[in-house]
Amino acid sequence: MCGIIGYIGNKTLTPLLITGLKRMEYRGYDSAGLSIFQEGAIKTYKKKGRVADLEAITNEVESTSNVGIAHTRWATHGFPNDINAHPHNTANNTISLVHNGIIENYASIKQKLIQEGYQFISDTDTEVLVVLIERFYNNVNDIENAVRLALNEIRGTFGIALISIYEPDKLIAARRGSPLILGIGEDEYLVASDAAAIIEHTKNVVFLNDDEMAILTKDSFITKTISNVQTNNEIHTLEIELEQIEKGGFEHFMLKEIYEQSTTITDAIRGRLLIDEGNVKLGGLRQVQDKLRNAKRIIITACGTSYNAALVGEYLIEQLAHIPVEVEYASEFRYRSPILYEDDVVFVISQSGETADTLAAVQEAKNRGTTVIGIVNVVGSSIARYTDAGIYIHAGPEIGVASTKAFTSQLTVLTLLALYLGRMKNLSIVEGIKIARELSELPKKVEEILQSTDKIEKIAKEYSSSRNYLYLGRGFNYPVALEGALKLKEISYIHAEGYPAAEMKHGPIALIDENMPVVFIAPKDEIYEKILSNVEEVRARKGKVIAIVTKNDNQMNHLADHVIEISETLPILTPILSVIPLQLLAYFTAKELKRDIDKPRNLAKSVTVE
Ligand code: AGP
Ligand code: GLU
Repeated sequence: MCGIIGYIGNKTLTPLLITGLKRMEYRGYDSAGLSIFQEGAIKTYKKKGRVADLEAITNEVESTSNVGIAHTRWATHGFPNDINAHPHNTANNTISLVHNGIIENYASIKQKLIQEGYQFISDTDTEVLVVLIERFYNNVNDIENAVRLALNEIRGTFGIALISIYEPDKLIAARRGSPLILGIGEDEYLVASDAAAIIEHTKNVVFLNDDEMAILTKDSFITKTISNVQTNNEIHTLEIELEQIEKGGFEHFMLKEIYEQSTTITDAIRGRLLIDEGNVKLGGLRQVQDKLRNAKRIIITACGTSYNAALVGEYLIEQLAHIPVEVEYASEFRYRSPILYEDDVVFVISQSGETADTLAAVQEAKNRGTTVIGIVNVVGSSIARYTDAGIYIHAGPEIGVASTKAFTSQLTVLTLLALYLGRMKNLSIVEGIKIARELSELPKKVEEILQSTDKIEKIAKEYSSSRNYLYLGRGFNYPVALEGALKLKEISYIHAEGYPAAEMKHGPIALIDENMPVVFIAPKDEIYEKILSNVEEVRARKGKVIAIVTKNDNQMNHLADHVIEISETLPILTPILSVIPLQLLAYFTAKELKRDIDKPRNLAKSVTVE
């Protein structure tokens, strides 16, 4: 959600800022803008729409200095239009600011500033901050101090970057609750809300902490707390390559990421699976090992796709380790005063590691003294850093807004976790070996699914004009039904519901007629026979049945209108395979409908506001 890039150094500025914004487009946004200097004055260009539209009005524009800021906005306060787009400037263009996040007390500050004679032209909360900085500058005559004083007045979340004519060779950045990374190059510095905007310039980065600010000049950088205590942040080396954030010949990032899954599952397992011991090594959990051994209950909290993965985690941990698990939406967990006991352990799952609701849940659990463990993809992200311990899923950058490879990697890591906890408890070595072996066979089986996708494409086309879809699964595949429906909704805009298959007769069955495609996730497992009865119920009402089945399933062939096969594996591992045809079904449907697959309307890759 929204992106910031700022640069100070010797490179040609406008194209650099535009490329930086393009690298963050995947996060979702509605307008874009940039500010640079021309002959000592700040010039701001901004536009509702795509970064390409901003590029069109700036490609002739040359900067006369080498410091600038740029932004992609995801509107929270005020419509997406040219005026509300960032950067926001003071009335006489003395300061220019970009902001991610929300200033909660903007209305009262705005009121006060209006009374003092300041004027506003936008509907945003952000404009209040830039005017407030100017007001303090008028008293203290020092831009850094003015920023500090203004930030002390505001409540809410921010990642900001600003330039000013007062000290034109300085770029100032600060954060609270919204990510910011500093890129440390040679004779150049960058600030960005996403590593993707930095890595083509440098891999050396500093992760800014909450309530920290950075003061960048062409040849120095300083980090301080907002209360003015100097900090010494470690420089990390990012392990992301440029190719990983480019499409590499695929039509869409989503398709590329679907196809990466045999590799990403391998990466999630790498170095962790001890097949001969039927066990798992998870270095990140070492310091919380005793806590986990004595845990009476596990709570998993997350949002969206990560929440669906958490539901599979619940089934896995309860089955293999017999520890009671509760799964809860992070947004609910945070606001309903959850009861937490000393021997509870909270797990949070997040691809981005920046989801505001999930981050707030981490804080809520930590405030109550509970051990919080992260299952996160983005290395160095806020959730990865604020949790007590964690397991990275190592899926690499996920650019498509609809999460695909992160989901299967989350499931893989949750299986490793359940196996690890199971072996700590009563799970036998024989069982452990069986699961570990099968897990290591999965990447091959994923590849098999991806080798023949024509059938799925045909089905997607046939039903692309449907107004509704129903997804049904049982046991381990009930959360997969939820995930299949979420994928279709997100990128094709077709309404879809996921349900436990047997629950269908308690309500959704009323929707079924000859126009309703019903996707059954029905691999061979203990409850397969039961799901056959559910299929019969749909057929009796003329619904169209699309079934995901285990290879050589002769029964379903006679019942379903279409079958899509996956290879046989252990029932507990089937979600990792069964979700892949559903990702493809959503992809091909959206493609048939000519949707903007990687940037679906209204959605942001990571939701950094509550
Ligand atoms: C997934 O396709 C969605 N775009 C969304 O539901 C996402 O999973 C959710 O916002 C959570 O994000 P996170 O994993 O980065 O925390
Ligand atoms: N709250 C600000 C606005 O609505 C910033 C939104 C963003 O994070 O892009 O303009």
